[in-house]
Amino acid sequence: MKIKRICCIGAGYVGGPTMAVIADRCPTIQLTVVDVNQARIDAWNASDLTQLPVYEPGLDAVVARARGRNLHFSTAIDASIASADMVFISVNTPTKRKGLGAGQASDLRWVEACARQVAAAAKGHTIVVEKSTLPVRTAAVIKTILEATQKEDPRRSFAVLSNPEFLAEGTAIDDLESPDRVLIGGDDVSSIDALAEIYSHWIATEKILRTSLWSSELSKLTANAFLAQRISSINSIAAFCEASGADVREVARAIGTDSRIGPKFLNAGPGFGGSCFQKDILNLVYLCRHFGLLEVANYWESVVTLNIWQQHRIACLVVEKLFGTVTGKRLAILGFAFKANTNDTREAPAIRIARDLLEEGAKLSIHDPKVAEAQISRDLRLKPTAFATEALNGSGGWSQAASIEETVEGADAILILTEWQNYRYLNWSSLAVLMRQPAWVFDTRAVVEPADVRAAGLKLWRIGDGED
Ligand code: UDX
Ligand code: ADP
Repeated sequence: MKIKRICCIGAGYVGGPTMAVIADRCPTIQLTVVDVNQARIDAWNASDLTQLPVYEPGLDAVVARARGRNLHFSTAIDASIASADMVFISVNTPTKRKGLGAGQASDLRWVEACARQVAAAAKGHTIVVEKSTLPVRTAAVIKTILEATQKEDPRRSFAVLSNPEFLAEGTAIDDLESPDRVLIGGDDVSSIDALAEIYSHWIATEKILRTSLWSSELSKLTANAFLAQRISSINSIAAFCEASGADVREVARAIGTDSRIGPKFLNAGPGFGGSCFQKDILNLVYLCRHFGLLEVANYWESVVTLNIWQQHRIACLVVEKLFGTVTGKRLAILGFAFKANTNDTREAPAIRIARDLLEEGAKLSIHDPKVAEAQISRDLRLKPTAFATEALNGSGGWSQAASIEETVEGADAILILTEWQNYRYLNWSSLAVLMRQPAWVFDTRAVVEPADVRAAGLKLWRIGDGED
């Protein structure tokens, strides 16, 4: 079975970059990425490549090579499904907000809608590939929906595969071009072979792992749970370092040289964000409770609890260091994205920290090289305000600044919340004169050179640094 046409439903952070790289590496396959969101599709089709809806280093070049040749973006979902041999489902699966499993279970309404749409529009034999991270046994739901239509019209047939995406935002193109592994779960060997053949255009065969559907789905949840657990572990030790006088970076280096532990994912910070870690752990917790595994559920839930605590802890210590009150004080927030090199703010630690400080009545001046004002407004559930009056009426407010200097002007403190490259090389002496003294720098990502900050006459707090 040779795949000639692919349809990917969902033109988001996963679907867009993944299909762009497949198109780039497989010029003989026609790929169409479809979405219900017309504005998003228009942005993917924009002639100005800086307007792509997803910011990822290197994505513009990949899109420039493939778009219009064998990579297309469209809202014609049914037509694209009908002509495809393979359909990727790459839609959002956020945590449910209400109803059964609210706050923990993944909301599968978009996945189910896709399955029904594929069932209605597909022709001939169609391989349906789960790309979104899904609860274990979701493939069974998709299969059941597809099989119901197959009975109605035997000329159509379906196979379902799980092919979770392990890319991390900010390094998506590198991760897609040279992944540690590709995972394909399923029971239909010819469908697995067909998908493996696509990846074999640029990935060594030994890196393409084959498992059952259920193992594949659970491997993705488990990988994210383990990674998030590492971050909560190092963040817990960071707090202990601050209390005990040790330095978390020295501890991380010392333990990371143990080959069983390894050096990656040991950066203490303001807690993990992103669309996956919290959602996937909460989903795992929900499933464990469902199967009566309460101790297992509690174990994984503590990873999220510690992450939320870390974010509140940082907001609290900012207030404490600023004489116990930030009401009416101007605070410069550097970085709003959940990590560097992305415009994504989903579950960004900046959201919880900023909300806590707004609650305390602070005036936040926010800077991020890639996040738009409208996005910050949605995340904080608050419109931006001008800071004409410095009244101590207790109500917090925020505005977005175009430059770092403008952000810092008149501020009592700078909070570095995202590790953008340009925040590593700030000219501290020229920023210090713009601030109200005594002024603080809170470096939650440990990106500054402490001696430079102190030489500029600024007070410094650094994550996991017991010396400060
Ligand atoms: C993650 C997984 O890495 C990826 O495999 C999966 O497909 C999706 O979820 P992503 O959320 O895009 O990717 O980014 P990642 O680099 O994993 O970072 C997640 C969060 O952890 C960020 O907020 C980041 O700042 C934080 N982090 C990461 C740390 O605080 N310390 C670290 O050492 C590493
Ligand atoms: P991810 O990070 O998993 O890629 P995103 O939220 O960035 O998630 O993207 C998911 C995309 O899927 C959104 O652009 C959304 O409009 C799209 N989508 C959701 N449901 C459907 C559907 N039934 N048909 C087409 N597109 C859909």
